[in-house]
Amino acid sequence: MINPFYLDLTDREISDIQEKLGEILHGGNLILAKYTDEFEHEFAGYVGSKYAVSLNSCTSALEVLLTIKGAKDRRVAVPTNTNFASVAAILRAGGTPVYMDMTIDYFVPNLDILKFTVEKHPDVAGVLWVHIGGIIPPDFEKVVEFCRQKHLFLIEDCAHAHGSELNGIKAGNFADGGAFSFFPTKVMTTTEGGMITTNSEKVASRVKSFRNQGKRGGNYGGLHYDLGNSWRMSEIEAYMGLVQLVKLDEMIAVRRQAVDVLMPFLKESKIDFCEISHMGRASLYKFIIRIENEVTVGELKEKFKSRGVVLGGSVYEVPCHMQPVFKDVRFDPEDVKVATELCPKHICPPITSGTTSEDVRQIATAIGECIR
Ligand SMILES: Cc1ncc(COP(=O)(O)O)c(C=O)c1O
Repeated sequence: MINPFYLDLTDREISDIQEKLGEILHGGNLILAKYTDEFEHEFAGYVGSKYAVSLNSCTSALEVLLTIKGAKDRRVAVPTNTNFASVAAILRAGGTPVYMDMTIDYFVPNLDILKFTVEKHPDVAGVLWVHIGGIIPPDFEKVVEFCRQKHLFLIEDCAHAHGSELNGIKAGNFADGGAFSFFPTKVMTTTEGGMITTNSEKVASRVKSFRNQGKRGGNYGGLHYDLGNSWRMSEIEAYMGLVQLVKLDEMIAVRRQAVDVLMPFLKESKIDFCEISHMGRASLYKFIIRIENEVTVGELKEKFKSRGVVLGGSVYEVPCHMQPVFKDVRFDPEDVKVATELCPKHICPPITSGTTSEDVRQIATAIGECIR
């Protein structure tokens, strides 16, 4: 059975992590010590940002960034096609989400959608953009420029986008700050974990305070300055992050090999998918295949499974404007039409950094038999 989850750690790497766990436990510095510093330094270097600050999750990273950028009591534009966490973070930061629709081509918004949203809601203060599946749309630099001109803050939700790159700029380095996730299914993992990337020293130091109960300046004393939380990463998670980061490019390359086989097959079979060829590199956290026939994703999942292929979670079958938890977030159904129609009409094949060429053949055969 081909599965959508693959923990990319060799036996040697696991032994190395176990050994480090012993060292960390004996050393007694379980948090905010040398491996956390090292991981942050290396991650910033990878993304090309001046600073990186680790946290316990991407959800908290988003909330902190939104709080610091002043989302409270203001409207924040966000794609409806995203994970619960993006919209929940706006609400927890005291803001009001304003949903943006998505394009059929990339399943993310574009400049026109953002402009439309800002014209309709002139009091929007900022944007929480989400690189769904790792896709950065071709006009994203224009989005960045538009936000700059309009004095809108722009936060990138990079939970899917480790290593994604457009015109030489990596996800997380385009605007005011990026928030990454290291949840187990992501392109790289630390079991649980998150990271903020930013070029602002002020933002980085405030994030460090917020993740550590509002203690500023790295002090462990009794004074709390910000209404922060206990959102730190542990030393062993940070060490695991270092092990994964070293091979992130390699892991993405394996995903790419699989997709390079699938794309021509899909084109030949006249099956639509979200393009990634305009990007310097796509993380390929998800490869989005659109389905046009009447079959439901649930039915398709069963069909694929009977052919030995377990489909991955989609991005996203139910957009946020249809989630029960967000029933009080107001929206005009006309403004989220594309997402309403197309979110339930796609699948994501189980492509991981463990996908072999035999797996790709089996996935392609299943696609041919189930979708065409
Ligand atoms: C787009 C997006 N943003 C944020 C998150 C939250 O990440 P975490 O689980 O690290 O809090 C996720 C998690 O799946 C996600 O998919």
